[in-house]
Formats: sequence, structure tokens, C-alpha cells
Amino acid sequence: MENKVILVCGARPNFMKVAMVLEEMRRFPEDFSPLLVHTGQHYDYELSGAFFRDLSLPEPDVYLGVGSGNHGEQTGKIMIEFERVVEKERPTLIIVVGDVNSTLAAAIVASKLLIPLAHVEAGLRSFDRTMPEEINRTVTDLLSDYCFTTEEDGNLNLEREGVDGSRIHLVGDVMVDCLMKTREKAEDSKILKDLHLEEEGYAVLTLHRPSNVDSKETLSRILEALEVVGERIQIIFPAHPRTKKRLKNFGLAPQNVIVKDPFGYIDFIRLEEKAEFVLTDSGSIQQETAVFGVPCLTLRENTERPFTIERGTNTLVGTGKDRIVEESLRILDGGGKSGEVHLLWDGKASQRIVKVLKGTQP
Ligand code: UD1
Repeated sequence: MENKVILVCGARPNFMKVAMVLEEMRRFPEDFSPLLVHTGQHYDYELSGAFFRDLSLPEPDVYLGVGSGNHGEQTGKIMIEFERVVEKERPTLIIVVGDVNSTLAAAIVASKLLIPLAHVEAGLRSFDRTMPEEINRTVTDLLSDYCFTTEEDGNLNLEREGVDGSRIHLVGDVMVDCLMKTREKAEDSKILKDLHLEEEGYAVLTLHRPSNVDSKETLSRILEALEVVGERIQIIFPAHPRTKKRLKNFGLAPQNVIVKDPFGYIDFIRLEEKAEFVLTDSGSIQQETAVFGVPCLTLRENTERPFTIERGTNTLVGTGKDRIVEESLRILDGGGKSGEVHLLWDGKASQRIVKVLKGTQP
């Protein structure tokens, strides 16, 4: 029987994850007939098309084109459009990745239509319900027939929430698969040369969490800290469209920070790997810097990736000016954290996922 599988993606951090699972599934055409659905949650070239290019992802089979909106509006639109696709295609499995609104919307549709559901990157928890992603991933996990976790903490979180152990599979991190696969290719990137940067002679900054950028007070405080740090090291800031809009609306202009448009995947991982350190509020970047062994300062009060703090290169610094400056200077004065990499971040997570789905896991 044909095993029609729908893989859903919608926003920037989804694309590398679906790319890895899709590529692995395509090695078994007798077992899987995959269909790629892009919800259109992200639609700008820098946040979507550039990633399809860099990851050699095929054009989506279905593009829903839902675009931006408030949470209810965006999630609802995706559900309406995605339900039509599922009714038409009647897949035997739906795979969702990560924790964005597209993930949740597709998960609800799958479960209501009684289609088996797999969640890649299950079990991560920040225990902070003010983050929309925390709600997205918690609900998605509860609905999923297969919860593919990245590390042991994920298993513990799911078990604590009552998810049956038979649904949980510890497989590692597909994002790390993608990083390892692309790392060599990224050596050809000209980004350092184009930006006139020396290896380890600059810091990279990313900011897009609503809790950081939607409040003028918080954003101003972060910018004040960066102005001080920027006296010591060049800070490259590829700014998310959400953040750019807020900066404009609040009338804020970052000082001592070089603001750029978002980079594609290959250029970005090159910048990340060769940075002296990274400042971020992203989840994925905490993980990627841990793999590269690059110190990371996370401008948040909590993280869904505790391994990167306990054993990796990550430090939670919150959004207070003094702490951001202090920790940045500590790194610049030679005190950056060195860390270890989780054993299962070995580039084989997508292989393990596909093995489970084929039912051949020993
Ligand atoms: C979304 C995810 C977040 C993820 C981030 C990565 C949710 C709830 N959030 O946040 O988990 O870390 O993507 O980037 O799903 N916009 C554009 N062009 C685009 C897309 C968005 O200009 O292609 C602007 C729009 O003004 C939009 C805003 O950015 O309203 C926010 O986009 P949205 O997809 O709602 O959330 P992100 O902040 O990108």
C-alpha cells in the first residue's frame, strides 16, 4: 500500500528540519511517498526562499499562502487551508516539526481527521506559557502518535505530562543533522569577506522574540547594552522583519551595531561558526552554537534547551543591561564557556526517525 506522508513546514526554523527528514524518506521510495506542504507563514525570500535554495529543498507540492496575522487568525487560516489538502490527499501520516503556529495548526487538523501524527523535536519545554511556542509544542506533543525527542530532558518532560512511553522516541536533533551536512559547504561562503570580518573578530546578534522586541522598554535596554559591547567588538545584526518594524515604530536606532537583512542558511551558519560569540533569543541558535563550540549569550530568562546551559556553551543572561555587558566582556577577556556536544547530536537523527517510521527499529 502506498504510504503517503505529508510533511508540513511554514517558518524559517522549520525548513532545515523537514529538509533532513524528507531527504532520508526519499531514500526509501518503496516505503514512503512524501508530499511537502508549505503553509506560507513566512513568505519573504530571506525567511523562506533563501532556505529552500540553500537546503536544495524541492518546490513545495502545495503552498497554502496564509501569510502573517494574529495568532488565532494565522493558526485558523492554516487549519482551514490544510484541512482541505488532507481531505483531498488522505495521507497515512502527517509530520510536523518544531513549535511554530504552522506546527500546531497542522497537528490539530491531523488529529481531528484521525491521521497519525509525528512531531519532530518533541518534548522541549521552557515552562514559560507566555511564549507562543510553548503552547504550540505542548499541544502538538499531546496530540502526536510519534514524539521524536532530541535529548533525555524531552523524554522526562513528556512522561511528566502523561505521554505514554510507547509514543516517545529519543532520536537526536535533525537540526544538527542539517548543520553537520552543510558545514563543509558553508566553508565556501563569502560572507566574512563581503562584510570585511576577521574570524573570531566579531559577534553575531539575533533578536526576534515578541517578549524582547515588542516592548519598547526591553528593546531599548538591550540596545543600550549592545552599544557598550559594540565599543569592544563589531556586532553583526541580521534583523528579523518583526524587529525591524518595531525599531522603526519605536523610533529606535541601534548604535555600535551593524544592522543587516536576514542571511540565508549557509551564510548564517558560517557567520555563527566563526564568531567570537553570539547573542540571541532564538532556540535553534543556542543549539547550533553549542555544536560549533562558540559561546552563546541567550537574552531570555529561560530556555527550552537546558543541555546547552548545563553542558554546552550557552549562558542565560536575561535582558538586563548590566548582565549582558558583564557576560560579553567576560567572553572578550577570555572567559567564554567551552562545552560538550550531546552524543545523539551526531547527524543521524533523521535516519533514526525514518527507521522508527518504517517499523524496523530494533
Ligand atoms: C515565528 C515563530 C517563532 C520562530 C520565528 C523564526 C510562531 C508563533 N513564531 O516567529 O517561533 O522562532 O518564526 O523566525 O510561529 N514577517 C515578514 N515577512 C515574513 C514573515 C513575517 O515581514 O516572511 C513579519 C510580519 O510583520 C509578521 C511578523 O514578521 O507579522 C511576525 O511573523 P510570524 O510568522 O507571526 O512570527 P515570527 O516572529 O516570525
